Amino acid sequence: MTQAGSGSHSAGDTQRHGFGVDVGGSGIKGGVVDLVTGELVGDRYKIETPQPSTPEAVAEVVAEIVKYFDWTGPVGVTLPAVVTAGVARSAANIDKGWIDTDAKALFARTIGNDLITVLNDADAAGVAEDRYGGGKDKSGVVVLLTFGTGIGSAVLHDGVLLPNTELGHLEVHGKEAEHRAASSVKERKELSYKEWAKEVSKVLETFEALLWPDLFIAGGGISRKSEKWIPHLTNRTPVVAATLLNTAGIVGAALAADTAAAGGHAR
Ligand code: BGC
Repeated sequence: MTQAGSGSHSAGDTQRHGFGVDVGGSGIKGGVVDLVTGELVGDRYKIETPQPSTPEAVAEVVAEIVKYFDWTGPVGVTLPAVVTAGVARSAANIDKGWIDTDAKALFARTIGNDLITVLNDADAAGVAEDRYGGGKDKSGVVVLLTFGTGIGSAVLHDGVLLPNTELGHLEVHGKEAEHRAASSVKERKELSYKEWAKEVSKVLETFEALLWPDLFIAGGGISRKSEKWIPHLTNRTPVVAATLLNTAGIVGAALAADTAAAGGHAR
């Protein structure tokens, strides 16, 4: 188990604060979020993803993180999976046992809290970046893409999410987008930023021909080095780097849970 930072043990004020947990292939991270600023209140708390990452094992870790902060309000949880009505429908970089698991019910049971919202990891990053980060004050169609092991996507129109778009699996010039231009492909093939940007451009050109977004937001760890590759992109739509970086999933999950608890688009 690893812990990033000292963390805050105090219970959050559910009026202003939310709580999110971001479940990834290697780490599960959670924290209290200031829903006005989109910033974490105190540090995040991280525990390594159990292997195998079965639903029960992951739910135990999520419950441990919630308990660490003594949080009792609404909880948002991301999964690297398609999630419809709280049920995981796919499983990328996580145990296949998640497929068809009622994640919302499982987390509610394990945490002992019914106010649970479960959503796709890229969708969570998208709502966070759209509200507080690279898409702040931008209207129209915003597409966030996370470049990592795969490519995650979030499509928003005037701040409203169209969930589970899974654009990373779209075929681009005969190959799945994420097999062509995930940042893992750059590493595996030892591509330069310029060579990799050429592949990313092909992906963005295909997406923009279908969706005509006003803005792309590039997320994932590689967005930290955005100055090395965004200038090489040749597609039409402006591309900005995500700004929340490794907190976007937590922040977006917290926001989604708060919106659902307030009677918004519960998922
Ligand atoms: C999955 C998406 C996920 C993305 C990033 C893709 O392979 O299909 O559901 O959002 O990876 O984790």
